[in-house]
This record gives sequence, structure tokens and C-alpha cells, in this order.
Amino acid sequence: MTVTLDRNVEEFIATPRQLFINGQWSDAASGKTFETPDPATGETLARVAEGDAEDINRAVTAARKAFEEGPWSRMTPSDRGRIVWKIGDLILEHTDELAQLESLDNGKPFVVAQAADIPLAADLFHYMAGWATKIEGNSIDISVPYMPGANFHAYTRREAIGVVGQIIPWNFPLLMAAWKLGPALAAGCTVVLKPAEQTPLTALRLAELIAEAGVPDGVVNVVPGYGETAGAALAAHPDVDKVAFTGSTEVGKLIVQAAGATNLKKLTLELGGKSPNIVFADADAAAVEGAANAIFFNHGQCCVAGSRLFVQQSRFDEVVDGVSEIAKSLKIGSGMDPTTQMGPLVSAEQLSRVTGFLESGKADGATAVTGGGRFGDKGYFVEPTVLTNTTPDMKVVREEIFGPVVVAAPFSDLGEIAAVANDTEYGLGAGIWTRDIGKAHAMAKKLRAGTVWINCYNVFDASLPFGGYKQSGWGREMGHEVLNNYTEVKSVVAQL
Ligand code: NAI
Ligand code: MG
Repeated sequence: MTVTLDRNVEEFIATPRQLFINGQWSDAASGKTFETPDPATGETLARVAEGDAEDINRAVTAARKAFEEGPWSRMTPSDRGRIVWKIGDLILEHTDELAQLESLDNGKPFVVAQAADIPLAADLFHYMAGWATKIEGNSIDISVPYMPGANFHAYTRREAIGVVGQIIPWNFPLLMAAWKLGPALAAGCTVVLKPAEQTPLTALRLAELIAEAGVPDGVVNVVPGYGETAGAALAAHPDVDKVAFTGSTEVGKLIVQAAGATNLKKLTLELGGKSPNIVFADADAAAVEGAANAIFFNHGQCCVAGSRLFVQQSRFDEVVDGVSEIAKSLKIGSGMDPTTQMGPLVSAEQLSRVTGFLESGKADGATAVTGGGRFGDKGYFVEPTVLTNTTPDMKVVREEIFGPVVVAAPFSDLGEIAAVANDTEYGLGAGIWTRDIGKAHAMAKKLRAGTVWINCYNVFDASLPFGGYKQSGWGREMGHEVLNNYTEVKSVVAQL
């Protein structure tokens, strides 16, 4: 069974997609294209223009002009906010179409994209629209001890940071574009967005909707291409004021180097994770399903995936058995089948990466209670896997797997568990399952992670800041926090 393909989707994937620069669709300067495969089959889904340094340069020039001279820079915050709101409306109007495109390109179940990715993306624009009119400075009474008797009027202004480069990953393609574009547009910035080479389609469709919403030419430019070429050119571009990146910690470090070697552009980084999910003995039975969802949602391709499950000894067998039963029951198949609960991983590269981790776990002596390998021989499917008998130094315990693989370990010392949970170079998310409110909040305080979920997991909202401690990144996305990353503060002092 598969859902009937939306007419717009059929047309969209039938023609090679181009780059969106200065409000125009164009081929790459090199004339090159690349293919984006359907991860359920490995067959070509669509062809897309392959942007490179020259195209990035063209896009940055357009974004700079739009920032300095365009109607965008003269628009009132209210008008800007209305346009950002309209983007959210248009996304909602095209929910099914975007969900299908996302499912085909990324592999995730269409029904999940329809229920989560697309409405969340719309909500982000709706939330950020309101901020356009609420970006404010302060007036400050200053003292200036070395100018006795002088009188001042001093205030701060929050100004758009300028031309922003945004480099996004493939796990939530449209949603990551929304997280980045929403605040940039609310703040009045202009943007060059590079989608992931694995999943460029929904960002390109979004560019059409953005134009339809009334965003002026050059304000949003979308240049698909590879990370090593287009992405690297954006990170190193001397006329880009800020880069916002989501992806691997390894590439995050390259972006820091590129900024350091060129113009010290401002950076925000949302990187990897190896998030602990801690189930105490007094947890509700819901913890079992919660622990399964924490790792298996989006096939484990979540930066916050609850990939290290710690269960208090007396409940360990029950929770591990329960999570394993859920793993076994998940219906694996094409994302376009509405009964599918878990689709393929995004790419052949991720398939070999994740199965490589599974091999290393086996070689190191871990036990696969369920799963443990590839699923089928077509497409990029992996069995949902629960590993036990791990030790803290194993690769499967220390490194981000980014697949449906959880390592489960028992604990008995309540005084030690926070330290054990924090024993990772990452600090993105964490989960706590207990009925004891005091224990829950005491733990929440001790965990070094940007988001802590109590008796729930993977709860996101446009109003809630999201980001990482330690090597999970710099800065926060969403909420009013994110606007700080898209604005500069200017202090103005006048002597009266
Ligand atoms: P990646 O970090 O290479 O890719 C993310 C984005 O960065 C893509 O748009 C890519 O084109 C771009 N990019 C790659 N190299 C670049 C460079 N040198 N300069 C500028 N941009 C560059 O991640 P990849 O290779 O797709 O996945 C590898 C691992 O990274 C995954 O297994 C997972 O562990 C982690 N990852 C984490 C994500 C998160 O949400 N935090 C998202 C995607 C991947
Ligand atoms: Mg990479």
C-alpha cells in the first residue's frame, strides 16, 4: 500500500530542480547536477543543480544587495512579520504535498512528516512572525565616573546581523530550514541556505512558497550542493556575517576553522549527541514506550536520540524486554506506505555507518537483544536494535550512531547516575523517568544537557530554546533566545 502521489509532487520531481538565487531559478555555473535517491529503493528520485563556490558567491552577492539596498531593509517590522506569518500559512496549505516530498527524499514515514515535520515547520514561522515587531533595545542610565557632572542619553539597538549562511542536515530537512530561516527573517537578515545533498527537495519547494509569501528577491537564496564544496564556500565566504550550522561535530569544527581563517563570522552550531535516558525504579510503565520512542523516532536519526538508556537495576529486565518487544513490532517499509512505522535510513553512507557500528558492538562483546543488522537487501533499512552487555569505553557507547540503536545498561547507585549520564563529550538532550518530583528536578539540574525531558521525550516547541552543552554546539535555536544569534547589539551614547 502506498499513498497516491500528489500531482504537484509528481511534477516537482519529474523536472531537474535548479538553484534559487536573487528570486530566479538557474542552473549551476558549472552546469553540473547531482541525483537525490529514494532511500527506500536506492533508485534516483530527482536531479538537482549542484551549486559550488561560484554559485555561493552569486547568492551571497544577491543577499548582500538585498540586505543593504532592497525593499526588505526598508520594510516595517509589521510588514516583515506578516510575510513570515504567510510562509507558515502556505506550508500548512501544502502539508500533504510537502510531507510526501519529505518522505520520498528522506525516507521517513509520510504520516510522521504530515503529523510532525510539516506542522512544526509552519508553527515555527508563525511563532517567529510575532517576534519581528518585538525586537527591542533598552534605555540605560549610565554613570561614567571619569566624566563627573556630564549628562547622557544612552540606549541599545538590536540590529539584524546581516547576511547569514545556513547549512542544514538531512534528518528533518524542512523543519531544519524553518528553524534557521524563521528567526533570520524575523530579525531582518538575508540568507543563503544550503540544504543537505541527501535531501534538497523540500527546501527548494519552500523557496517557491517563500517567494509566493512576498519575500523580496535576494532575501532568501537556496543553493543545494555538497558540503565539501558549496558548504565549505559558504563557511569561508568573507562577506557572510554569520553561519548557522546543524550537522556533525566533525564538520562543526571545520566551520569554526573556516570562520577563523577568514572574517571571524559569528557562528551557531547544533551538533551531535549521545543523550542519556534514565529510568528510575519508580517510573510509570509509560517509560518503556517512552524509551523506545526516544531512540526509534525518525529511525534514530535525531541529534537528541535517547541512545544511552540507563535503567535502575530492579526494572532493567522489564524495560529492556519491553523496548525490545516494541522494536520487534515496528513495521519497517517505505515511508510512502501509510502503515509503515520505520522507514529506511537516509543514504547508503548512513547504512554502512550504522551497520559498521553494529559490527563494532558485536566485536567488542555487546549483545543484541533484538536487531543487530541490516533489514532486507534493498533500500537502506536497518533493524531497530537494543544492545546490552556494553562497557563505558565501547565505541557504540561513546560515539553518535545516528541510527535505531540503543545501548542499555543497569545502574544501582543513585548518587552516581548523574555522573555516568554526563560521561560523554556531548550535551544535547536527556530524559528522566520517575514519579518522584524532587528526584526529577534534582537530576534535571545535574545533567549537563541543553534540554531535559521529565516523563516525556522528544517534545519540541517553537518557543522552547534548543541547543547543546559541550561538543553538542554553540548557541540556542528557537524561542526568543535564537534572536540573539541573528542580531547585533549597538550601544548609542549621546551627551546632552
Ligand atoms: P555532515 O555534518 O557532513 O552534514 C551536515 C551538513 O553539513 C550538510 O548540509 C553537508 O552538506 C554540510 N557539510 C558537510 N561538510 C561540510 C564542510 N566541509 N563545510 C561546510 N558544510 C559541510 O553530516 P553527514 O555526513 O550527513 O552525517 C554524518 C554524521 O553526522 C551522522 O551520522 C550524525 O552522527 C551526524 N549528524 C548530526 C546531525 C544533527 O542533527 N546534529 C544531522 C546530520 C548528521
Ligand atoms: Mg559529512
